[in-house]
Amino acid sequence: DVIPPASAPTAIPADIHNLADYERHAEALLPADAWRHIQGGADREVTLTANRTAFDKVRLLPRVLTDLRGGNTALDLFGRQLSSPILLAPLAYQKIAHASGEGETVRAAMALDTPMIVSTLSSLTLEDIATIGQQTAAGFGIAPASLWFQLYLQEEREWSAELVRRAEVAGYEAIVLTVDTSIKRSTFVLPEGVDAANLRGMPRRTHTTTPGGNILFGTPLLNVAPRWEDLAWLRSLTKLPLLVKGILAAEDARLAIEHGADGIIVSNHGGRSLDGAPSPLDVMSSIVKAVAGRVPILLDSGIRSGSDVAKALASGATAVLMGRPQFHGLAVAGMAGVAHILHILRAELEFTMAQLGCATLADITADRLFVSGR
Ligand code: FNR
Repeated sequence: DVIPPASAPTAIPADIHNLADYERHAEALLPADAWRHIQGGADREVTLTANRTAFDKVRLLPRVLTDLRGGNTALDLFGRQLSSPILLAPLAYQKIAHASGEGETVRAAMALDTPMIVSTLSSLTLEDIATIGQQTAAGFGIAPASLWFQLYLQEEREWSAELVRRAEVAGYEAIVLTVDTSIKRSTFVLPEGVDAANLRGMPRRTHTTTPGGNILFGTPLLNVAPRWEDLAWLRSLTKLPLLVKGILAAEDARLAIEHGADGIIVSNHGGRSLDGAPSPLDVMSSIVKAVAGRVPILLDSGIRSGSDVAKALASGATAVLMGRPQFHGLAVAGMAGVAHILHILRAELEFTMAQLGCATLADITADRLFVSGR
Protein backbone atom coordinates (compact mmCIF):
# COMPACT_ATOMS: atom_id res chain seq x y z
CA ASP A 1 0.00 0.00 0.00
CA VAL A 2 1.18 3.51 -0.75
CA ILE A 3 0.93 5.69 2.32
CA PRO A 4 -1.19 8.71 1.36
CA PRO A 5 0.77 11.97 1.69
CA ALA A 6 -0.71 14.81 3.69
CA SER A 7 -3.40 16.31 1.48
CA ALA A 8 -3.22 19.92 0.36
CA PRO A 9 -4.85 22.09 3.00
CA THR A 10 -8.54 22.70 2.34
CA ALA A 11 -10.01 26.03 3.34
CA ILE A 12 -12.52 25.74 6.15
CA PRO A 13 -15.74 27.58 5.17
CA ALA A 14 -16.03 30.86 7.06
CA ASP A 15 -19.52 30.14 8.34
CA ILE A 16 -18.41 27.15 10.43
CA HIS A 17 -18.43 27.84 14.17
CA ASN A 18 -19.56 24.60 15.80
CA LEU A 19 -20.12 20.89 15.15
CA ALA A 20 -23.64 21.44 13.81
CA ASP A 21 -22.14 23.66 11.10
CA TYR A 22 -19.73 20.87 10.16
CA GLU A 23 -22.62 18.42 9.97
CA ARG A 24 -24.57 20.72 7.65
CA HIS A 25 -21.61 21.24 5.32
CA ALA A 26 -20.70 17.54 5.31
CA GLU A 27 -24.24 16.57 4.27
CA ALA A 28 -23.94 18.85 1.23
CA LEU A 29 -20.56 17.36 0.27
CA LEU A 30 -20.99 13.60 0.81
CA PRO A 31 -22.85 11.27 -1.59
CA ALA A 32 -26.36 10.59 -0.28
CA ASP A 33 -25.76 6.87 0.39
CA ALA A 34 -22.55 7.56 2.33
CA TRP A 35 -24.34 10.25 4.34
CA ARG A 36 -27.16 7.84 5.27
CA HIS A 37 -24.62 5.16 6.21
CA ILE A 38 -22.70 7.52 8.50
CA GLN A 39 -25.63 9.30 10.13
CA GLY A 40 -28.08 6.45 10.44
CA GLY A 41 -29.10 4.44 13.49
CA ALA A 42 -30.67 1.04 14.00
CA ASP A 43 -34.29 0.39 12.97
CA ARG A 44 -36.59 3.31 13.84
CA GLU A 45 -33.69 5.33 15.33
CA VAL A 46 -35.41 5.70 18.71
CA THR A 47 -32.06 5.25 20.49
CA LEU A 48 -30.23 7.52 18.04
CA THR A 49 -32.70 10.30 18.94
CA ALA A 50 -32.47 9.50 22.66
CA ASN A 51 -28.70 10.03 22.57
CA ARG A 52 -29.27 13.71 21.82
CA THR A 53 -32.35 14.31 23.97
CA ALA A 54 -30.56 12.78 26.99
CA PHE A 55 -27.89 15.48 26.76
CA ASP A 56 -30.37 18.24 25.97
CA LYS A 57 -32.56 17.60 29.00
CA VAL A 58 -29.66 17.89 31.48
CA ARG A 59 -29.14 21.36 32.99
CA LEU A 60 -25.81 22.68 34.23
CA LEU A 61 -25.69 25.02 37.23
CA PRO A 62 -23.29 27.94 36.75
CA ARG A 63 -21.11 29.07 39.68
CA VAL A 64 -19.60 32.55 39.75
CA LEU A 65 -16.52 34.31 41.09
CA THR A 66 -14.53 31.12 41.66
CA ASP A 67 -10.74 31.15 41.40
CA LEU A 68 -9.90 29.80 37.94
CA ARG A 69 -6.18 30.59 37.97
CA GLY A 70 -4.09 27.68 36.71
CA GLY A 71 -7.16 26.19 35.04
CA ASN A 72 -6.59 23.33 32.60
CA THR A 73 -8.31 20.35 30.98
CA ALA A 74 -5.52 17.83 31.68
CA LEU A 75 -6.03 14.32 32.93
CA ASP A 76 -4.06 11.18 33.62
CA LEU A 77 -5.42 8.13 31.78
CA PHE A 78 -3.65 4.77 32.10
CA GLY A 79 -0.46 6.53 33.13
CA ARG A 80 -0.44 8.89 30.18
CA GLN A 81 -0.92 12.65 30.55
CA LEU A 82 -3.64 13.86 28.19
CA SER A 83 -4.33 17.53 27.57
CA SER A 84 -8.07 16.98 27.15
CA PRO A 85 -10.74 14.36 27.99
CA ILE A 86 -11.97 14.09 24.38
CA LEU A 87 -10.80 11.05 22.36
CA LEU A 88 -11.47 9.96 18.78
CA ALA A 89 -13.90 7.01 18.70
CA PRO A 90 -13.11 4.07 16.40
CA LEU A 91 -14.84 4.54 13.04
CA ALA A 92 -14.63 1.98 10.25
CA TYR A 93 -13.67 2.82 6.67
CA GLN A 94 -12.73 6.49 6.95
CA LYS A 95 -11.86 6.60 3.23
CA ILE A 96 -15.62 6.89 2.74
CA ALA A 97 -15.31 10.55 3.76
CA HIS A 98 -11.83 11.43 2.46
CA ALA A 99 -9.46 9.81 -0.06
CA SER A 100 -6.69 9.55 2.57
CA GLY A 101 -9.07 8.36 5.29
CA GLU A 102 -7.41 7.55 8.61
CA GLY A 103 -4.20 9.23 7.36
CA GLU A 104 -5.92 12.60 7.80
CA THR A 105 -7.44 11.70 11.15
CA VAL A 106 -4.17 10.58 12.70
CA ARG A 107 -2.47 13.85 11.70
CA ALA A 108 -5.32 15.83 13.25
CA ALA A 109 -5.15 13.71 16.41
CA MET A 110 -1.45 14.53 16.75
CA ALA A 111 -1.91 18.24 16.11
CA LEU A 112 -4.33 18.37 19.03
CA ASP A 113 -2.51 15.76 21.16
CA THR A 114 -5.56 13.50 21.15
CA PRO A 115 -5.60 9.69 21.33
CA MET A 116 -7.07 8.07 18.23
CA ILE A 117 -8.77 4.69 18.52
CA VAL A 118 -8.16 2.85 15.26
CA SER A 119 -10.91 0.45 14.13
CA THR A 120 -10.32 -3.19 13.19
CA LEU A 121 -12.14 -2.13 10.03
CA SER A 122 -9.86 0.80 9.18
CA SER A 123 -9.34 1.48 5.49
CA LEU A 124 -5.56 1.97 5.96
CA THR A 125 -3.66 -0.76 7.78
CA LEU A 126 -2.97 -0.17 11.46
CA GLU A 127 0.76 -0.21 10.59
CA ASP A 128 0.39 2.49 7.91
CA ILE A 129 -1.56 4.69 10.34
CA ALA A 130 1.23 4.30 12.92
CA THR A 131 3.87 5.06 10.29
CA ILE A 132 2.09 8.25 9.27
CA GLY A 133 2.05 9.18 12.95
CA GLN A 134 5.79 8.57 13.29
CA GLN A 135 6.68 10.43 10.10
CA THR A 136 4.54 13.41 11.09
CA ALA A 137 6.04 13.48 14.59
CA ALA A 138 9.56 13.49 13.13
CA GLY A 139 8.68 16.15 10.56
CA PHE A 140 7.18 18.59 13.06
CA GLY A 141 9.20 17.67 16.14
CA ILE A 142 6.04 16.81 18.08
CA ALA A 143 5.08 13.83 20.23
CA PRO A 144 4.12 10.68 18.30
CA ALA A 145 0.44 9.84 17.99
CA SER A 146 -1.20 8.08 20.90
CA LEU A 147 -2.91 5.21 19.10
CA TRP A 148 -5.29 2.70 20.63
CA PHE A 149 -6.50 -0.36 18.71
CA GLN A 150 -10.19 -1.31 18.64
CA LEU A 151 -10.67 -5.05 18.26
CA TYR A 152 -13.63 -6.89 16.84
CA LEU A 153 -13.11 -10.51 17.87
CA GLN A 154 -12.56 -12.63 14.79
CA GLU A 155 -14.04 -16.07 14.20
CA GLU A 156 -10.73 -17.73 15.05
CA ARG A 157 -8.87 -16.72 18.20
CA GLU A 158 -5.61 -16.92 16.27
CA TRP A 159 -6.75 -14.10 13.96
CA SER A 160 -7.69 -11.90 16.92
CA ALA A 161 -4.35 -12.69 18.58
CA GLU A 162 -2.57 -11.75 15.36
CA LEU A 163 -4.32 -8.35 15.26
CA VAL A 164 -3.38 -7.65 18.90
CA ARG A 165 0.23 -8.67 18.26
CA ARG A 166 0.40 -6.40 15.21
CA ALA A 167 -0.99 -3.50 17.25
CA GLU A 168 1.58 -4.09 20.00
CA VAL A 169 4.45 -4.23 17.51
CA ALA A 170 3.24 -1.01 15.84
CA GLY A 171 3.29 0.79 19.19
CA TYR A 172 -0.42 0.96 20.01
CA GLU A 173 -0.98 1.89 23.66
CA ALA A 174 -4.31 0.26 24.55
CA ILE A 175 -6.76 -2.34 23.27
CA VAL A 176 -10.48 -1.57 23.06
CA LEU A 177 -12.71 -4.62 22.68
CA THR A 178 -16.04 -3.64 21.14
CA VAL A 179 -18.80 -5.98 22.29
CA ASP A 180 -21.93 -4.35 20.85
CA THR A 181 -21.40 -4.88 17.13
CA SER A 182 -23.52 -2.75 14.89
CA ILE A 183 -26.28 -4.81 13.36
CA LYS A 184 -27.82 -1.95 11.44
CA ARG A 185 -29.59 -3.19 8.34
CA SER A 186 -27.71 -1.54 5.55
CA THR A 187 -27.69 -1.53 1.81
CA PHE A 188 -24.58 0.62 1.73
CA VAL A 189 -21.90 -0.73 -0.61
CA LEU A 190 -18.30 0.30 0.10
CA PRO A 191 -16.95 2.55 -2.69
CA GLU A 192 -14.21 1.26 -5.03
CA GLY A 193 -10.84 1.05 -3.31
CA VAL A 194 -12.21 1.00 0.25
CA ASP A 195 -11.72 -2.24 2.17
CA ALA A 196 -10.90 -3.66 5.60
CA ALA A 197 -7.14 -3.21 5.18
CA ASN A 198 -6.20 -5.02 8.42
CA LEU A 199 -8.09 -8.16 7.47
CA ARG A 200 -6.63 -8.71 4.01
CA GLY A 201 -5.60 -12.32 3.67
CA MET A 202 -7.77 -13.49 6.55
CA PRO A 203 -10.33 -15.97 5.33
CA ARG A 204 -13.94 -14.82 5.58
CA ARG A 205 -16.56 -17.45 6.13
CA THR A 206 -20.06 -17.07 4.91
CA HIS A 207 -22.78 -18.24 7.24
CA THR A 208 -25.93 -19.68 5.89
CA THR A 209 -29.08 -20.09 7.91
CA THR A 210 -30.17 -23.56 8.88
CA PRO A 211 -33.45 -24.99 7.65
CA GLY A 212 -36.33 -24.85 10.12
CA GLY A 213 -37.08 -21.14 10.11
CA ASN A 214 -34.59 -19.87 12.65
CA ILE A 215 -32.77 -16.75 11.59
CA LEU A 216 -30.03 -16.55 14.22
CA PHE A 217 -30.63 -19.21 16.86
CA GLY A 218 -29.36 -22.58 15.74
CA THR A 219 -27.16 -21.09 13.04
CA PRO A 220 -23.35 -21.37 13.00
CA LEU A 221 -23.22 -17.62 13.64
CA LEU A 222 -24.01 -18.13 17.32
CA ASN A 223 -21.20 -20.64 17.74
CA VAL A 224 -18.61 -18.01 16.88
CA ALA A 225 -20.23 -15.12 18.78
CA PRO A 226 -17.86 -13.74 21.48
CA ARG A 227 -18.42 -14.75 25.13
CA TRP A 228 -17.09 -13.57 28.52
CA GLU A 229 -14.40 -16.26 28.43
CA ASP A 230 -13.00 -14.57 25.32
CA LEU A 231 -12.44 -11.38 27.33
CA ALA A 232 -10.48 -13.34 29.96
CA TRP A 233 -8.47 -14.93 27.14
CA LEU A 234 -7.75 -11.52 25.62
CA ARG A 235 -6.67 -10.28 29.06
CA SER A 236 -4.12 -13.10 29.25
CA LEU A 237 -2.82 -12.18 25.81
CA THR A 238 -1.70 -8.59 26.35
CA LYS A 239 -0.28 -6.35 29.04
CA LEU A 240 -1.71 -3.22 27.40
CA PRO A 241 -4.63 -1.49 29.10
CA LEU A 242 -7.79 -3.30 27.98
CA LEU A 243 -11.12 -1.48 27.66
CA VAL A 244 -14.52 -2.93 26.89
CA LYS A 245 -16.69 -0.75 24.65
CA GLY A 246 -20.44 -1.10 24.42
CA ILE A 247 -21.50 -1.54 28.05
CA LEU A 248 -24.94 -0.30 29.18
CA ALA A 249 -25.92 -2.69 32.02
CA ALA A 250 -24.36 -2.21 35.46
CA GLU A 251 -23.99 -5.98 35.81
CA ASP A 252 -21.98 -6.11 32.57
CA ALA A 253 -19.67 -3.37 33.87
CA ARG A 254 -19.08 -5.53 36.96
CA LEU A 255 -18.46 -8.65 34.82
CA ALA A 256 -16.09 -6.77 32.51
CA ILE A 257 -13.93 -5.72 35.47
CA GLU A 258 -14.09 -9.27 36.87
CA HIS A 259 -12.78 -10.59 33.54
CA GLY A 260 -9.88 -8.18 33.51
CA ALA A 261 -11.01 -4.92 31.90
CA ASP A 262 -8.99 -1.84 32.86
CA GLY A 263 -11.68 0.51 31.62
CA ILE A 264 -15.34 0.60 30.57
CA ILE A 265 -16.73 2.49 27.60
CA VAL A 266 -20.42 3.15 28.12
CA SER A 267 -21.85 3.31 24.61
CA ASN A 268 -24.78 2.28 22.46
CA HIS A 269 -22.61 2.47 19.33
CA GLY A 270 -24.07 5.84 18.39
CA GLY A 271 -27.58 4.35 18.27
CA ARG A 272 -26.53 1.74 15.71
CA SER A 273 -26.94 -1.40 17.82
CA LEU A 274 -30.13 -2.23 19.73
CA ASP A 275 -32.88 0.23 18.91
CA GLY A 276 -34.70 0.95 22.16
CA ALA A 277 -31.53 0.78 24.25
CA PRO A 278 -31.06 3.67 26.70
CA SER A 279 -28.64 6.48 26.09
CA PRO A 280 -25.29 6.20 27.92
CA LEU A 281 -26.07 9.28 30.00
CA ASP A 282 -29.25 7.64 31.32
CA VAL A 283 -27.40 4.57 32.65
CA MET A 284 -24.41 6.40 34.10
CA SER A 285 -25.55 6.50 37.73
CA SER A 286 -26.03 2.72 37.91
CA ILE A 287 -22.71 2.09 36.11
CA VAL A 288 -20.85 4.50 38.40
CA LYS A 289 -22.25 2.64 41.40
CA ALA A 290 -21.26 -0.78 40.02
CA VAL A 291 -17.75 0.30 39.01
CA ALA A 292 -17.20 2.02 42.36
CA GLY A 293 -14.09 3.88 41.23
CA ARG A 294 -12.15 0.70 40.33
CA VAL A 295 -11.54 1.65 36.67
CA PRO A 296 -12.10 4.75 34.53
CA ILE A 297 -15.46 5.04 32.78
CA LEU A 298 -15.50 6.52 29.29
CA LEU A 299 -18.68 7.46 27.44
CA ASP A 300 -19.76 8.03 23.87
CA SER A 301 -22.87 8.40 21.69
CA GLY A 302 -24.17 11.89 21.06
CA ILE A 303 -21.27 14.14 22.16
CA ARG A 304 -21.55 17.25 19.99
CA SER A 305 -20.42 20.17 22.18
CA GLY A 306 -18.24 21.16 25.10
CA SER A 307 -21.25 21.33 27.41
CA ASP A 308 -22.08 17.70 26.44
CA VAL A 309 -18.56 16.77 27.58
CA ALA A 310 -19.11 18.60 30.88
CA LYS A 311 -22.45 16.83 31.37
CA ALA A 312 -20.80 13.44 30.79
CA LEU A 313 -17.99 14.22 33.23
CA ALA A 314 -20.41 15.57 35.86
CA SER A 315 -22.29 12.28 35.51
CA GLY A 316 -19.16 10.30 36.37
CA ALA A 317 -17.26 9.82 33.10
CA THR A 318 -13.48 10.29 33.12
CA ALA A 319 -13.34 11.01 29.39
CA VAL A 320 -15.52 10.87 26.28
CA LEU A 321 -15.24 9.68 22.68
CA MET A 322 -16.49 11.57 19.66
CA GLY A 323 -17.71 9.55 16.66
CA ARG A 324 -19.57 10.88 13.61
CA PRO A 325 -18.19 14.46 13.73
CA GLN A 326 -14.84 12.97 12.60
CA PHE A 327 -16.50 12.02 9.32
CA HIS A 328 -17.96 15.52 9.04
CA GLY A 329 -14.54 17.10 9.54
CA LEU A 330 -12.95 14.70 7.04
CA ALA A 331 -15.57 15.47 4.40
CA VAL A 332 -15.30 19.25 4.80
CA ALA A 333 -11.54 19.72 5.13
CA GLY A 334 -9.67 16.48 5.82
CA MET A 335 -7.06 16.80 8.54
CA ALA A 336 -7.79 20.50 9.10
CA GLY A 337 -11.48 19.74 9.57
CA VAL A 338 -10.94 17.03 12.19
CA ALA A 339 -8.34 19.17 13.98
CA HIS A 340 -10.72 22.14 13.94
CA ILE A 341 -13.52 20.03 15.40
CA LEU A 342 -11.27 18.89 18.24
CA HIS A 343 -10.22 22.51 18.81
CA ILE A 344 -13.84 23.72 18.88
CA LEU A 345 -14.86 21.03 21.39
CA ARG A 346 -11.92 21.88 23.62
CA ALA A 347 -12.62 25.61 23.50
CA GLU A 348 -16.30 24.99 24.29
CA LEU A 349 -15.33 22.75 27.19
CA GLU A 350 -13.04 25.45 28.62
CA PHE A 351 -15.77 28.11 28.37
CA THR A 352 -18.26 25.73 29.97
CA MET A 353 -15.83 24.96 32.80
CA ALA A 354 -15.20 28.66 33.39
CA GLN A 355 -18.94 29.27 33.68
CA LEU A 356 -19.35 26.30 36.00
CA GLY A 357 -16.52 27.62 38.16
CA CYS A 358 -14.42 24.52 37.47
CA ALA A 359 -10.67 25.06 37.10
CA THR A 360 -9.92 21.36 36.53
CA LEU A 361 -11.77 18.31 35.25
CA ALA A 362 -11.87 16.93 38.80
CA ASP A 363 -13.99 19.96 39.77
CA ILE A 364 -16.76 18.90 37.33
CA THR A 365 -18.74 16.90 39.87
CA ALA A 366 -22.41 15.91 40.17
CA ASP A 367 -23.23 19.11 42.08
CA ARG A 368 -22.83 21.00 38.80
CA LEU A 369 -25.91 19.17 37.47
CA PHE A 370 -29.05 21.15 38.21
CA VAL A 371 -31.82 19.03 39.62
CA SER A 372 -35.12 20.86 39.80
CA GLY A 373 -36.29 21.46 43.37
CA ARG A 374 -32.99 20.50 45.00
C1 FNR B 1 -19.03 3.50 14.27
N1 FNR B 1 -18.66 2.96 15.50
C2 FNR B 1 -17.70 1.98 15.55
N2 FNR B 1 -17.33 1.44 16.75
C3 FNR B 1 -16.36 0.49 16.81
O1 FNR B 1 -16.04 0.04 17.91
N3 FNR B 1 -15.74 0.05 15.66
C4 FNR B 1 -16.06 0.53 14.44
O2 FNR B 1 -15.48 0.13 13.45
C5 FNR B 1 -17.08 1.52 14.36
N4 FNR B 1 -17.46 2.01 13.14
C6 FNR B 1 -18.42 3.00 13.09
C7 FNR B 1 -18.78 3.53 11.85
C8 FNR B 1 -19.71 4.55 11.77
C9 FNR B 1 -20.10 5.12 10.43
C10 FNR B 1 -20.30 5.07 12.96
C11 FNR B 1 -21.30 6.20 12.92
C12 FNR B 1 -19.97 4.53 14.18
C13 FNR B 1 -19.22 3.50 16.75
C14 FNR B 1 -18.36 4.64 17.27
O3 FNR B 1 -17.13 4.18 17.75
C15 FNR B 1 -19.03 5.39 18.44
O4 FNR B 1 -19.43 4.48 19.43
C16 FNR B 1 -20.24 6.21 18.01
O5 FNR B 1 -20.06 6.76 16.73
C17 FNR B 1 -20.46 7.31 19.03
O6 FNR B 1 -21.58 8.04 18.76
P1 FNR B 1 -21.55 9.46 17.99
O7 FNR B 1 -20.46 10.32 18.58
O8 FNR B 1 -21.33 9.15 16.55
O9 FNR B 1 -22.92 9.98 18.27
